[in-house]
Amino acid sequence: MTKKLTNSDTNLVGMSRRRFLTGTAGLTILGGASHFPMPALAQGSPLKVGLMLPYSGTFAKLGKFVDDGFRLYVEQQGGKLGGREVSFVQVDDESKPEAATDNMNRLVGREKVDVVVGTVHSGVAMAMVKVARDTNTMLIIPNAGANEATGPMCAPHVFRTSFSNWQVCYPMGKVVADAGHKKVVTITWRYAAGTQMVDAFKEGFTKAGGTIAGELALPFPEVEFQALITQIATLKPDAVFAFFAGGGAVKFVKDYAAAGLNKSIPLYGAGFLTDGTIAAQGDAATGIKTTLHYADNIDNPANKAFQGAFKAKTGNDGDIYAVQGFDGAALLNVGLTAVKGDKAARETMVTAMRAAKLDSPRGPMSFSKANNPIQNIYLREVKNGRNELVSIAQANVEDPARGCKLTG
Ligand code: BEZ
Repeated sequence: MTKKLTNSDTNLVGMSRRRFLTGTAGLTILGGASHFPMPALAQGSPLKVGLMLPYSGTFAKLGKFVDDGFRLYVEQQGGKLGGREVSFVQVDDESKPEAATDNMNRLVGREKVDVVVGTVHSGVAMAMVKVARDTNTMLIIPNAGANEATGPMCAPHVFRTSFSNWQVCYPMGKVVADAGHKKVVTITWRYAAGTQMVDAFKEGFTKAGGTIAGELALPFPEVEFQALITQIATLKPDAVFAFFAGGGAVKFVKDYAAAGLNKSIPLYGAGFLTDGTIAAQGDAATGIKTTLHYADNIDNPANKAFQGAFKAKTGNDGDIYAVQGFDGAALLNVGLTAVKGDKAARETMVTAMRAAKLDSPRGPMSFSKANNPIQNIYLREVKNGRNELVSIAQANVEDPARGCKLTG
């Protein structure tokens, strides 16, 4: 069962609320009045999952694939996780940070979900983490890479099944330097994910001896790239490093090729530049090299099974967003299995999830002390309309979790 929240479901929007203690039986203060609620969920009730994702806007397809991946895993368990039925409430976050706190409060406060799964956009995710921490709500982030979520804002009940912005782009610095490129221009959207991915690339690239010849940016989610592409042509770097995703990535890659720069200045990027976007980019994407924790042709049984099942369910090839959603449900399954479906046993669940080792379509995946995946980062190249695996750029990459106070 899925309940869809719309923007008119605003009863609790803007109210402050705070749930103390642990699990679902906490003391709730609602609009200033405190009371002791019944345990929010009786033993037999389904696990209520709040899906807070972008179902519209430039990241709409990304949100849809996370959602499809999550539901695929649940369907494969017969509609259950750890033997517990699952129900869904979903809300379109529109990739709008300014609406994120209200959206999250609707799920946590009024809908009383057991766990929130979201989101794609780093700015939205940061607001979600704050609410999750304030209300002690379990949160699984199936994409957004905001370093803070598993850095200074880390918490035992906040997990990520995707990546940190640092993790995906730091290894690319050495790849680009090893390819003989000395001067690189970076280009991105000016918001948390773009800034942090470019910073991580710069950290790796300058450490390997490279120089940054220019840093270009435009506000999220603008797609008027022409003036910046002209600046790249004028700066004549050895290579370009880019972060864009979704609809913006499709347009950037097409504009870059239309300007003829793909023939003279090699384009590198975070894998989001070509993942989930490659069909729409067509020939313009050919030859682009990116780093990511996934590649289309990873040759392991988990990936083959996942791709087959995803295609059968949706008619689409699975991409990184679908994998991250799928793994989000797999992680929750580990927790609920450890407590035999008793979702009130939150501490035991969290302990099992922190120790989880997933056989992911991306390859082996475990969790750092900050609850961020430890995983391979692959170098891929667009060939034959696919993000083909070239090599492992860096094995078992662990985000440094700068500022996280959690211990093992
Ligand atoms: C982010 O905002 O964290 C993000 C969005 C799309 C793809 C990758 C990261």
